Amino acid sequence: MCADKVRDQYEEFPYPTRDLADERRRLITGSPSHLAEINHYVFGGRLDFTQPFRALIAGGGTGDAAIMLAQHLSDADVPAEIVYLDLSTASRAITEARAKARGLSNISFYTGSLLELGDFGEFDYIDCCGVLHHLPVPQDGFASLARALKPKGGLGLMVYGEFGRTGVYDVQAMLRDLVRDGESGTDKVTLAHKLLTALPPSNRLRRNPLVGDHLSSDAGLYDLLLHSQDRAYTVPDLVDEIETAGLRIASFIEPLRYDPALYLRDKGLLQRLEGQGLAQRAGFAERLAGNMKKHIVYCVRQDNDEETVAGPVGPSAIPVLRDAPGPEFARNMPPGAAFSASLDGLDFSMPLPPLARDILLLCEGRRTLDEIRKALPGAPDWFRFKPQFDAVYKPLNGFNKMLLRFASA
Ligand SMILES: C[S@@+](CC[C@H](N)C(=O)[O-])C[C@H]1O[C@@H](n2cnc3c(N)ncnc32)[C@H](O)[C@@H]1O
Repeated sequence: MCADKVRDQYEEFPYPTRDLADERRRLITGSPSHLAEINHYVFGGRLDFTQPFRALIAGGGTGDAAIMLAQHLSDADVPAEIVYLDLSTASRAITEARAKARGLSNISFYTGSLLELGDFGEFDYIDCCGVLHHLPVPQDGFASLARALKPKGGLGLMVYGEFGRTGVYDVQAMLRDLVRDGESGTDKVTLAHKLLTALPPSNRLRRNPLVGDHLSSDAGLYDLLLHSQDRAYTVPDLVDEIETAGLRIASFIEPLRYDPALYLRDKGLLQRLEGQGLAQRAGFAERLAGNMKKHIVYCVRQDNDEETVAGPVGPSAIPVLRDAPGPEFARNMPPGAAFSASLDGLDFSMPLPPLARDILLLCEGRRTLDEIRKALPGAPDWFRFKPQFDAVYKPLNGFNKMLLRFASA
């Protein structure tokens, strides 16, 4: 029953709303499922791009992840098959049109449920972004995806975060009280607009500046406030679902956001958290920040005991800037500048070392650390260079701006 309601919603209001004309102007990128992130967090930076790669986009919606990954794999000449799967034929039609506009032929399209993956085979990578929290029993979804992973494969997930969505569930509950049987989707949207206009300044949604999806489009409003099946996760809830499915977390995105040390300056308080694992520290950071409206996480199977996250451990690591080539990133950066970032209402500024600008100018995605070192003014030795690189890497990787790969043997 609920699955039917969810499908009907996305037939009437495919989400997110996408404009086909955008395909000529830009590639919409995001997390999870950026190819450089998949390589860094799931394959230790050592993904062999000459080998066939199978990916599932589970609940692919209007296509953002499918199109981004298909384009990245096509640009990198990877012999890849991307399986797009969604309940909604309207969403699929939008994604098919986007793929056609880009001339992408590496996506196969299917209509159906991620709970029934029996015939699809195993995947190197699965994307499931903004879907599992809409299942009647999300654990069934986690388990179904985990079963479809190859032994060394990985999963990129996004689920709603509880604290950043303060106020959303109050308005959802009020709308359930107000909606009458038989009212159409458009009637409900009109009703929601009326209620939103009437919210007093003290209302928790009105006081939450982080949530704005309902302001962007009717589909966004429906998805946020009129959804028939929707829950949010705290970090411990999410970790529990992941571990019950036989998976483990490789990394949260952005990694530093889930580190209490990003927020706490008091060394005594930080010391008390020493020795805690990734999940416990992430749960603390979530409560402390109070602004996480979603959680993005890369997972691998528990029986995969390799270190799947790339590290800047040796001279052969190749830094890759995620959003813009290093030279572009560095262009307006004076020597010794700080790195600044904003995350949902919090501003951060982190010091960078004197060589930061020169290093970034050389990070065009092909040079190894050793090649970067040798090309720097005065070619510092490794022991002078490495601490400076690490001081660039820590904030940039922590805010998901810099990733690593290794050249194939
Ligand atoms: C909020 S949209 C997210 C779409 C896309 N993943 C994205 O991030 O833009 C949720 C999508 O999940 C799909 N969906 C929900 N339950 C599903 C299921 N059991 N199997 C497959 N798709 C499902 C819906 O049809 C909808 O297109």
